[in-house]
Amino acid sequence: MMSKKLLVDVDCGVDDAQAIMLALAAPRVKVLGVTCVHGNTAVEHVCRNALRVLQACNKLKEIPVFKGASKPLVGSRINAGHFHGQDGLGDAPDPNAPGLDLLQKENAVSAMIRIINENPGEVSLVATAPLTNLALAVRMEPSLPSKLRGLYIMGGNTESRGNTSVCGEFNFTADPEAAYIVLNEYQCPTYLACWEFTCHNKLSWEFCDTWLAQDSHKARFMSQIFQHSIEAAKTERFQKECVAGAGFISCDSYAMAAALDDSFIIESDCYPVSVELTGTHTRGMMVVDTVGFLKKTHKAFIMKKVDLERFKQMMMAALK
Ligand code: BDR
Ligand code: CA
Repeated sequence: MMSKKLLVDVDCGVDDAQAIMLALAAPRVKVLGVTCVHGNTAVEHVCRNALRVLQACNKLKEIPVFKGASKPLVGSRINAGHFHGQDGLGDAPDPNAPGLDLLQKENAVSAMIRIINENPGEVSLVATAPLTNLALAVRMEPSLPSKLRGLYIMGGNTESRGNTSVCGEFNFTADPEAAYIVLNEYQCPTYLACWEFTCHNKLSWEFCDTWLAQDSHKARFMSQIFQHSIEAAKTERFQKECVAGAGFISCDSYAMAAALDDSFIIESDCYPVSVELTGTHTRGMMVVDTVGFLKKTHKAFIMKKVDLERFKQMMMAALK
């Protein structure tokens, strides 16, 4: 069977790390590159974190890492240090972490365009971060989306619940203009793992304990970097953000799982989507056009129900 080709755009916080590890453990999957962008932390930290994840999985030599945009298209940068740690990986530094000299010289946006052009119709692009790199890429090469096999995004929301502003999910709020460009110009099969969906599909803390207790280098690495987020996830603020019910949310892993396994999504809504760019409380909020007001022909698949047993298997395999 042919292997799936993946390109992963991350702001490597802890759940991005989990998503990357899911991909690296999946059979018949080739990760063509990891492109980095600002988001959970500054892009330099993001790059270092991506290299650390690859090192933990013994893939440092195989998979190139590219540095991308350090700021959103408009406005100033935000981060999610309160959740992921200031360095994005739980503030659990590794003295043997790889240096930034291992980054590719080519920038992330050029690499994205080149890699997709070299593999027309074959690349699944998994974007688990603010969409700045993807927006810049489509501005430089408008035909790029037509060469993708699919686009898998973690971001946006469907019930106007925010985790970053009243109505804004982090990845879209961190660069609303980029999210707008991507949702309106990537006219390829597009799959969205939105914030509320991930909240409704939490994994239990019991599963988390079993997952991290695996006797492997990868599980020990994850235990270290995840500790900060585990504590943050148990705070009152996060409990309010993430809709009712206990458990942890590996947000980015849902988008990755959908890219890895075509049967992962069991049910989805299919609607045109866009992003609110103004509004006192709604800037960055995803807009779902259930009636057809936007007169858009392109519709995105908004995940509703997924195979959670399969998800748990993928998560377990990621730390083996
Ligand atoms: C998203 O924001 C980031 O903090 C996470 O890595 C995820 O991509 C969730 O809103
Ligand atoms: Ca992310």
